[in-house]
Amino acid sequence: MKALILVGGYGTRLRPLTLTKPKPLVEFCNKPMVLHQIEALAQAGVTHVILAVSYLSDMLQRDMEVEAKRLNIKITLSQETEPLGTAGPLALAHNQLQGDIDPFFVLNSDVICEFPFEDMIKFHKYHQCEGTICVTKVEEPSKYGVVVYEHDTGAIERFVEKPREYVSNKINAGLYIFNSSILDRIELRPTSIEKEIFPAMAMDKQLYAYELKGFWMDVGQPKDYLTGMSLFLNHVRNSNPERLSRENGTVGNVLLDPTAKIGERCRIGPNVVVGPRVIIENGVCLKNCTVLADSLVKSHSWISSCIIGWRCTIGKWVRMENITVLGLDVSVQDELFINGGVILPHKAISESVSEPKILI
Ligand code: GDD
Ligand code: MG
Repeated sequence: MKALILVGGYGTRLRPLTLTKPKPLVEFCNKPMVLHQIEALAQAGVTHVILAVSYLSDMLQRDMEVEAKRLNIKITLSQETEPLGTAGPLALAHNQLQGDIDPFFVLNSDVICEFPFEDMIKFHKYHQCEGTICVTKVEEPSKYGVVVYEHDTGAIERFVEKPREYVSNKINAGLYIFNSSILDRIELRPTSIEKEIFPAMAMDKQLYAYELKGFWMDVGQPKDYLTGMSLFLNHVRNSNPERLSRENGTVGNVLLDPTAKIGERCRIGPNVVVGPRVIIENGVCLKNCTVLADSLVKSHSWISSCIIGWRCTIGKWVRMENITVLGLDVSVQDELFINGGVILPHKAISESVSEPKILI
């Protein structure tokens, strides 16, 4: 079976992290985002993954070659010359997707959950129609695609992308299976699968909803990235608790890379992920944070709800909070207060940031 992952553009909503690395390679819970999906696909029997990208990245190509070997699957890049939206990339990869009797997966690259690929295949074979989309329930449906369907069968009656008025709280989770006949509906031009293709498929009674169990999050923005991190850690607690840290000074769900070093009298957690070779000095308090590889947090700093990029240095007695995101190689001097700063790569911060803002 094959899968196409919609990797898309430059990941502007995850800047400054995506200024240094393409979004699919930005680590989420100590693993490149797209690898969470690729590993689960390989486990479900997918042998060829097509990454639909609208920009060329040597880094992505190189890293994916390594992963393809490791997982013993094929990974290819399908590159657009202009962004083709969420349906156009299927037309571009037409030759690679067609001709297979098997249906194929299509995924949004920024969603994280307990990927139910094998169950989706079973459900898709059972209803025998053209498409299956995964749905989940959310509190605030207006920023998603909303799905109205018959609860007994899953048959979708309506699909409304980003509705202005309340329609339902069941939304498109961004994971699909399609028969190759869907390709006859898609032209090679910028097209939205959600606005143009799904409503037509629903009208033809060719689209079915598979209800997702467990957690789900679109982690394409810093605030949601941190919420998704908490949900993921909670899932690890329930499924593989031995992966979480039991070190002294950790509180609640904490994922520590084995090469990270934590000082004395720290309070790490709840909901913290610490990447490879990170050094946390004595007396540091970290909660609801991700610290990416090779960063240093000096003693007695207090950091809450932040994403610290790669190779950053945080001084002593720093207070940092409110969805602050640091890019690669940022340094923050001792004793500063950073409130909701978005700080671009290679910047040295020598003054406090008292209100949320972007520092170039
Ligand atoms: N190759 C390619 N080319 N990929 C693209 C393009 C493009 O021009 N535009 C967007 N994508 C990719 C994005 O990288 C992402 O993985 C996916 O398509 C969806 O785009 P988003 O920009 O993240 O859309 P969204 O989050 O506002 O809404 C989508 O996801 C929701 C679930 O998170 C929709 O599918 C909604 O219906 C859905 O509920
Ligand atoms: Mg998204």
